[in-house]
Amino acid sequence: MTESSSSEAGPPGRPISRKNLLRAAVAASTVPLIAGGGIALARDTGAGGAPLALTPACDDGDDPTPAQMEGPYFKPNSPLRTSLVTSGTSGTPLTVSGYVFGRACKPLSGVLLDFWQADAGGAYDMSGFAFRGHQFTDATGAFTLTTVVAGLYPGRTRHIHVKAQAPGRPVLTTQLYFPGEPRNATDALYDPALLMNVRGAGSGRQGTFDFVLDVAQQPDPTDPPTDPPTDPPGGTWAAGTSYRAGDRVTYDGVSFRCLQAHSAIAGWEPPLVPALWERG
Ligand SMILES: [Fe+2]
Repeated sequence: MTESSSSEAGPPGRPISRKNLLRAAVAASTVPLIAGGGIALARDTGAGGAPLALTPACDDGDDPTPAQMEGPYFKPNSPLRTSLVTSGTSGTPLTVSGYVFGRACKPLSGVLLDFWQADAGGAYDMSGFAFRGHQFTDATGAFTLTTVVAGLYPGRTRHIHVKAQAPGRPVLTTQLYFPGEPRNATDALYDPALLMNVRGAGSGRQGTFDFVLDVAQQPDPTDPPTDPPTDPPGGTWAAGTSYRAGDRVTYDGVSFRCLQAHSAIAGWEPPLVPALWERG
């Protein structure tokens, strides 16, 4: 299998837009400021540190982060970790940080972000889990990934794959891109809406990217009300339980096997979280 842009027609080129980032950041007045310089985002530049005014909405129909193909190199059951770097890792150090917002530009906590990428030499680890890991956004909706700059491989420009999933919501599969890459101009999958801001930081790089998921949030008047809680279906799975790899549960009449140890959280029921549970 190959992951060639020539075999998957990508979206037509779009002008670079930072409105998602800017509008989302303006509304997220509780988000801490990012230290240091670099490319200025709205969240970096609140005048005098004063809270920024809320905007009524960040969704005009095309704002959520666009989806992209998964490609052939995804593997479920990635480790829970924010750093993909080990003592033997080679490559240019890279951190990618940012926030995940819903459609009302409010941060989303507990969003599962599952990253995978090529190593510095352009190879994916299909036998193990090198350069694969998942994590959850914190209470402010923030995430940080510690890795290296993804290597180039034939047919593609430089990119990082990610799946983003808010609790109980569908998975968004997409890819993040690096600015200033010559192959951005020839990769049909490349989408400037998925460009990270990247700046130098010592011998490495620091990237930022904010996701906007198609998740309704109050008080956007155009959003439907949040789904009311529903009674859990029958089964042995229970929120608050600490499960170990190999544990088995039932949920709504279906058996699931735990792929890795975790604490069960409402919204992460087994049918919704292929990273943690598999049928069987
Ligand atoms: Fe890839």
